[in-house]
Amino acid sequence: MNEWFETVAEARRRARKRLPASVYGALIAGSERGQTVDDNIRAFTELGFAPHVAGHQAQRDLATSVLGQPISLPVMISPTGVQAVHPDGEVAVARAAAARGTAMGLSSFASKPVEEVVAANPQTFFQLYWSGSRDQLIQRMDRARAAGAVGLIATLDWSFSMGRDWGSPVIPERIDLKAALRFAPEALARPQWLREYLRTGHIPDLTVPNMANPGEPAPTFFGAYREWMQTPPPSWDDVAWLREQWGGPFLLKGVTRIDDARRAVDAGVTAISVSNHGGNNLDGTPATIRALPAIKEAIGDDIEILLDGGVRRGSDVIKAVALGAQAVLIGRAYLWGLAANGQAGVENVLDILRSGIDSALLGLGKSSIHDLTPDDVVIPPDFIRRLGDPAAPVAKTH
Ligand SMILES: Cc1cc2nc3c(=O)[nH]c(=O)nc-3n(C[C@H](O)[C@H](O)[C@H](O)COP(=O)(O)O)c2cc1C
Repeated sequence: MNEWFETVAEARRRARKRLPASVYGALIAGSERGQTVDDNIRAFTELGFAPHVAGHQAQRDLATSVLGQPISLPVMISPTGVQAVHPDGEVAVARAAAARGTAMGLSSFASKPVEEVVAANPQTFFQLYWSGSRDQLIQRMDRARAAGAVGLIATLDWSFSMGRDWGSPVIPERIDLKAALRFAPEALARPQWLREYLRTGHIPDLTVPNMANPGEPAPTFFGAYREWMQTPPPSWDDVAWLREQWGGPFLLKGVTRIDDARRAVDAGVTAISVSNHGGNNLDGTPATIRALPAIKEAIGDDIEILLDGGVRRGSDVIKAVALGAQAVLIGRAYLWGLAANGQAGVENVLDILRSGIDSALLGLGKSSIHDLTPDDVVIPPDFIRRLGDPAAPVAKTH
């Protein structure tokens, strides 16, 4: 079979065929009824283009930077815990990102240690949740810094949403014999996936090495999740404290409101990502692309604005950049690529996005992503959501 795929939709189909049902389920799921996960996709389809017929540019420049890191296209890897998707996990993703000249976000719930991931891609940002004591947070930051992480991503939007209408995957506390036997029928139905793991000589152990306390073994996914659930949520002062402790480039991920974006500027962050955690969070949050224009209008160029949620093609990236994002982060798109074909599958996804960005730039008659403006996008009336500041000035719509 030709391992190359043409679209992210095809990567998703292959991931579905290749992964055990519960692992695939974890990659597509949104919280509750899935209103947000659906809107993240739908909103991009509501935006249009008005292409030129001549006067196109022969050369197009896609390069930009995020938090001081030069990247060859305005797309970077969003942090996700890719437990059990592929034995090489985040290391394969990091290698793919490096091969395609972009940066990697590494989840603190990842299956691979930060040291291995930074070795695979020196442009790695370490992602942290507000979990555990201040000492533990400092230790995790120290470890990431010592490993060479070039920035910190603080993801603070998580709301511990429980119910998913299509069911949550059963993640065992440990892979003991009982859990292995329960999982066996699913795994045996996916021989290719199983073979990949058997080749490496170990099954996914569902531990989270980057959450380990010094000198202790890595906790289980659920052990770490319990610690996080029991931690009192952070205040804006805590955000400022975290940024100060890190002392380098700092991305606050999960902002959807104008007032929060302003507070983020006040807390001294380097960048925000307009994000609703890919619809895995408080269901009913609008698509991030609807929230972006008003946030851009409110904070301008004070800090970098990134976006994640629902990006599946290069034209989505163009829409986000035109509406004010410096770059986007992708989640599911690369996870499906990883499931479909390991490192090469992630490279394939980045190539799809690159050529889609380039083709949209060509049609729009632009020579650089830096020349994009909201006028390059057809925005329907009532598209923009002004969360957290209804009185803000009205953005220009077509
Ligand atoms: C399976 C899965 C696991 C995720 N794990 C994390 C995580 O550990 N940390 C984090 O900041 N975001 C996490 N996210 C959210 C992504 O970083 C990102 O915000 C989201 O996937 C973007 O939407 P998209 O999947 O539509 O591209 C996860 C998302 C998925 C789908």
